[in-house]
Amino acid sequence: MKTSLDLVPLGKTDIMITTVGVGTWAWGDRLIWGYGGNTYNDADIREAFDVSLENGTNWFDTAEVYGMGKSEQFLGKFLPSASKEVLVATKFFPFPWRMSKQAMLRSLNKSLKRLQLSHVDLYQIHTPFGRWSKPEYVSTLAEAVNAGLTRAVGVSNFNTEKTKLANETLLAAGVPLASNQVEYSLFNRRIEKNGLLDYCHENDITVIAYSPLAKGMATGKYDPENPPPGARKRIYPPEKLQQFQPLITLLKEISAVHGKTPAQVALNWTICKGTVPIPGAKNAKQAAENLGAMGWRLSPEEVVALDEASNLLE
Ligand SMILES: NC(=O)c1ccc[n+]([C@@H]2O[C@H](COP(=O)([O-])OP(=O)(O)OC[C@H]3O[C@@H](n4cnc5c(N)ncnc54)[C@H](OP(=O)(O)O)[C@@H]3O)[C@@H](O)[C@H]2O)c1
Repeated sequence: MKTSLDLVPLGKTDIMITTVGVGTWAWGDRLIWGYGGNTYNDADIREAFDVSLENGTNWFDTAEVYGMGKSEQFLGKFLPSASKEVLVATKFFPFPWRMSKQAMLRSLNKSLKRLQLSHVDLYQIHTPFGRWSKPEYVSTLAEAVNAGLTRAVGVSNFNTEKTKLANETLLAAGVPLASNQVEYSLFNRRIEKNGLLDYCHENDITVIAYSPLAKGMATGKYDPENPPPGARKRIYPPEKLQQFQPLITLLKEISAVHGKTPAQVALNWTICKGTVPIPGAKNAKQAAENLGAMGWRLSPEEVVALDEASNLLE
């Protein structure tokens, strides 16, 4: 369960988020996650939502493109009966045909309809495609805040240069850039190496770590003999899974010391690095386990040992 250790401000805003949020990409997505197949169903998703709240999180991350709107619709259905106040982050997808600034506010209004909300807590540009990292377009995020449609704004998949430009643009418009959502896990530490993590820390921009379990690989349940199903097979071929094994062995060793699981240790490591992970959960069991990453911390020595084992991957 979370402690006061696990409540942090979202960027420079007064919005307090738990150090672990819940990613909802799988809630309705067939292509990568197999929604509609035989591994998880609508009842599992509902339970994942309820159990996430019972286990201490206060926020969910979604996007208009997840399940082509289904993920937002699930949240919209669940939120009215939530056991406590819930914060919602969603995203604008800069499709190439979205050429005008008004496209963002139109999309946000459509997201709000699916979510059955009057505003969200965080609205993010999903990726800096096309013109959507240029100052005159990024500043539309400030308009969304001023229109009362979102409390805070962020970006996603922006590199250091684009994050800096977005931060400066929004500051000039009087709205802080609250967050940058990027891939980060023991299995992908690019943002540590290219300066993005440091830039965000120095500028009070929350780094939201997506795929913090490396799409399930950090749980230790997949290996070359038991590869992940579907599209993930291509992302993680057998040779890659083989390469992961020493790190997974260390995750298992450290988790045994703490009475935790490898997934909880992998998530805790991202928290120790000053980021907030949003692990995806398809059911109650995964949700409860992932939120058990809150309420405790790895020792500095354990963080270094994990760093060293993960350095060997590259
Ligand atoms: N902004 C972006 O461009 C972007 C991109 C990707 C993701 N995201 C966000 O980040 C969230 C999380 O990323 P992600 O879904 O890619 O990957 P992830 O959180 O690293 O992995 C999620 C998957 O791992 C497995 N899993 C999760 N918890 C588990 C547990 N405790 N035990 C066993 N298996 C478990 C589940 O799949 P199986 O059971 O099928 O193995 C689950 O769907 C997304 O939901 C989304 O909100 C954002």
